[in-house]
Amino acid sequence: MADGDSQPHIPVLLAAVLDLLPATSGAVIVDATVGGGGHAAALLSRAGPAGRLLGIDQDESALVLAGARLSDFGDRVTLVHACFDRLTSLAAEAGFSPADVILMDLGVSSMHLDRAVRGFSFQQDGPLDMRMDARGEGPTAADLVNTLDEDELAALIREYGEDKRARRIARRIVRERPFYRTAALAQAIEAAAPRGKTDKIHPATRTFQALRIAVNDELAVLERALPQALALLRPGGRLGVISFHSLEDRIVKRFFRQESTDCICPPGQPVCTCHHRASVRLVTRKPVTGDADEVSNNPRSRSARLRVVEKV
Ligand SMILES: C[S@@+](CC[C@H](N)C(=O)[O-])C[C@H]1O[C@@H](n2cnc3c(N)ncnc32)[C@H](O)[C@@H]1O
Repeated sequence: MADGDSQPHIPVLLAAVLDLLPATSGAVIVDATVGGGGHAAALLSRAGPAGRLLGIDQDESALVLAGARLSDFGDRVTLVHACFDRLTSLAAEAGFSPADVILMDLGVSSMHLDRAVRGFSFQQDGPLDMRMDARGEGPTAADLVNTLDEDELAALIREYGEDKRARRIARRIVRERPFYRTAALAQAIEAAAPRGKTDKIHPATRTFQALRIAVNDELAVLERALPQALALLRPGGRLGVISFHSLEDRIVKRFFRQESTDCICPPGQPVCTCHHRASVRLVTRKPVTGDADEVSNNPRSRSARLRVVEKV
C-alpha cells in the first residue's frame, strides 16, 4: 500500500468497551489514545447531545484523522497533541476533570503500521524511526540499533520483546550494522533466527516490538499515567485499558489489583502498616478478549486484552 494510503483503523473490542464503560447521558469522556477516533465516536454517540470528549494522542497524524471522524460532534470534542503521561494537567486545563469514563487503547494503530515512513513495520520498508511523536527528540530505533553494545541490545530484545533468541539476534545486528531501514533489519533478524515450522509470527516481530517500546519509553509512560487516570475519575467513573502484549497487561493487572485492595503490606505481616485503602473495584476479574468472529474480522484484536475498574 502506498505511504499515507492507510486502511481505517477498526476499533478493537468495541462492544465490550461500550458495555463495560457506560457513557451515560452527558458523560465526560477522556480517550487518552484517540487514534482514528473509532472508540471515541462510539462512546460519544452513547453519551447523547450533552456528552463531551477529550481526545489525546501523541501522534499528530492520528489527530488529523480523529478530527475528521469526530467533526459531526462539533465543539463537544477537544483534541490535544500530547503524551498521556500528563493526563492530570491535560484534563484539568481542558475542563475535563473529573471524568466519568477514561479509555486507554495502547500501542500503535493500523495507520502507524501501514505508513512505512514511520518505520514501525518490518513488512514494508521504511526508515528505522518508530517514534510515535514525530516531534520526538529522543533516540530513533536506528539510534538504538546502531549504538547499543551487544549485551545491551540482547537485554532489550529479551526484556521488551520476550524473545529467547535475543542473544543470536543481537550478535548478528552488531556484526552487520549500521541499519537505517526496516526491511534490512528484518532480513538480518530472520537470518539470525529463521522462522520455525510452527512459528505463527515473523521472526522480527518481537525485536520490532522491543525497539518500539524502548524508543517510546512505553512501559514507564504507562506506569506514570495509570495513577493519574484513577485520580481523574469521579466516584463511580470507570477506567478501561486495552493492552496488546503481556508486559503492558502485567503493569495494568498489578496496578488494578493493588488499587482494589485495602492492605498491601507484605503477606504474613501481622499488623498493617501501609494504611492503603482500595480506591477502585475490579469490573473485570479476567481480561476481556476478542471472540473468534472479531479476531477473523480484525486480526489486530488477536492479542487485545481489556481490563476495567470502577472508582469507589
Ligand atoms: C491503538 S491506537 C488507538 C485507536 C483508537 N482507539 C481508535 O478507535 O481509533 C493507539 C493510539 O495511541 C497513541 N498513543 C500511544 N501511546 C501514547 C501516549 N503515551 N500518549 C498519547 N498517545 C499515545 C498512538 O499514537 C495511537 O494513535
